[in-house]
Amino acid sequence: MSTLIAYFSRADENYFGGSMRYIDKGNTEVAAEKIQAMTGADLFKIEMKHPYAKEYMTCINQAKDDKNNGVRPELVSFPESIDSYDSVILAYPNYWGTYPMAVLTFLEHFDFTGKTIYPLCTNEGSGMGSSERDLKKTLAGAKIAAGLSVSGSSVNSCDSQLRRWLEANQLL
Ligand SMILES: Cc1cc2nc3c(=O)[nH]c(=O)nc-3n(C[C@H](O)[C@H](O)[C@H](O)COP(=O)(O)O)c2cc1C
Repeated sequence: MSTLIAYFSRADENYFGGSMRYIDKGNTEVAAEKIQAMTGADLFKIEMKHPYAKEYMTCINQAKDDKNNGVRPELVSFPESIDSYDSVILAYPNYWGTYPMAVLTFLEHFDFTGKTIYPLCTNEGSGMGSSERDLKKTLAGAKIAAGLSVSGSSVNSCDSQLRRWLEANQLL
């Protein structure tokens, strides 16, 4: 069984339990790299050609506009093929209640029929939001496993939570 970890994440200014702070590495990227270290799976970063602003409040509004307008942001690149993977760990932050629109650009680029998707969502309190339901609609031919919600602010100490989830899904 071969697994791909695909993730979207944003560094720069973010909100952590009441205050704003600039960070070098986004929360989801921290989680995705931990999973990579645990599983040895291939890692792919979903990156926007024109990233959202470094300033949190501007980014918030850009992401809201993209969601409301059904925008599919252009990506820097895609994996050449995902044919060899039967499992995809899809990691993303909760943006306005679901995955960011750049993740949708990624999902619509490939045929996920027959694959199992394991969603992981970092967030500041909204959990998975509607992202699992939205994945089921977008990827009708794929199996969507029960996702994992990780608190973005405490991503540095989520190792045992990740391990339990990976073990429960036979990904370790
Ligand atoms: C544009 C935007 C929208 C967000 N919307 C939500 C939300 O609806 N619910 C929530 O709990 N957190 C929300 N957050 C917080 C992020 O989900 C959280 O900080 C996440 O860990 C960021 O991941 P990253 O650092 O990998 O980008 C939002 C953050 C941004 C930037």
